[in-house]
Amino acid sequence: MQHNLLEHGGNLRDAVHSFKRPLSEWLDLSTGINPRFYPAPIVADHAWHRLPEHSDELLAAAKAFYGAPEMLAVAGTQAAIQSLPLLRLTAAGQSRVVVSAPSYAEHAHQWRRWEHQVTECLYSGLDAAIDEADVVVLCNPNNPTGEVIAPETLLRWAKRLEARGGWLIVDEAFGDTNPNLSVAAHTHQSGLIVLRSVGKFFGLAGIRLGFVAAHPTLLQRLAAHLGPWTISGPAQQVAIAALRDHAWQTDTRHYLELQGQRLRGLLIDAGMSSSGTDLFQWVSHRDLSGRTELLWHFMAERGIWLRWFAQAPFRPHGVRFGLPGDEIGWQRLSHALMEWTQQYA
Ligand SMILES: Cc1ncc(COP(=O)(O)O)c(C=O)c1O
Repeated sequence: MQHNLLEHGGNLRDAVHSFKRPLSEWLDLSTGINPRFYPAPIVADHAWHRLPEHSDELLAAAKAFYGAPEMLAVAGTQAAIQSLPLLRLTAAGQSRVVVSAPSYAEHAHQWRRWEHQVTECLYSGLDAAIDEADVVVLCNPNNPTGEVIAPETLLRWAKRLEARGGWLIVDEAFGDTNPNLSVAAHTHQSGLIVLRSVGKFFGLAGIRLGFVAAHPTLLQRLAAHLGPWTISGPAQQVAIAALRDHAWQTDTRHYLELQGQRLRGLLIDAGMSSSGTDLFQWVSHRDLSGRTELLWHFMAERGIWLRWFAQAPFRPHGVRFGLPGDEIGWQRLSHALMEWTQQYA
């Protein structure tokens, strides 16, 4: 079993250390987290004081928001990503797992930790790979490239896998700005597992909360594996408010659409074509003539922290831009991109 931890965005302390710039002076665009996060209400005293019991209210709010028949709350989708490979350890041996790539690296990593046979596969090759797999894992929309797969296609793949006792795991952590893509409503079908996170659209990554939508039998196994008190009382109360706040959700979808357009526009002005979602944009090595590390370094020298994806098998290099949270941040980014264009375009 491997124990190494992977690198992720949001690692601002590395930025402070490597570029000798104090924390307060950084513009952190290294994640895809909504910078205008849900304004968490003050929570009731008992949330701090009592052990957090299972909350039917939280599940009802989540099922209504995500449109899923059954859900389990987990401490971030990460908790499910780490646990699902364990639930596939059977006497019959490890599973053949196909993971879409390039993608959120934890998926392949966690399946490998338990010595399942992992193959990473480009989005374009997934259809052909389904029949050779016991488990297929993908992100829809994908982080970092923003690629999407139509729900009808996913449901067909899920059926093919289900017929052999297989699983299709669809990570919809970035799905909240495009709810039409979701297959959460179909998770009564055994073998289809959907992951949702309150970390991205709601911007509540710090409360460590996500949800799994799946067949009740699988949810029961996962709940038994995770044990009691996995979601803190404060996290439960904040999430109930956020998941029920339709006015905030509508306003935020609109806000993020405009912010996403603004980011795409700035990158186009800088001569870069990009792909992504309303929460982030991905500029690949092709769009930068291979100068991805140079761009990342150039921005870091100006106090702008991007996420650079170094080249690795099936992980073509590229740079991901998150959204600035205020006008000063936008101006800083715009100015730095202009300098980049003058120097390198
Ligand atoms: C695609 C994707 N899925 C899941 C996660 C894990 O998110 P969380 O554990 O905060 O729900 C991340 C985090 O960056 C992600 O990018």
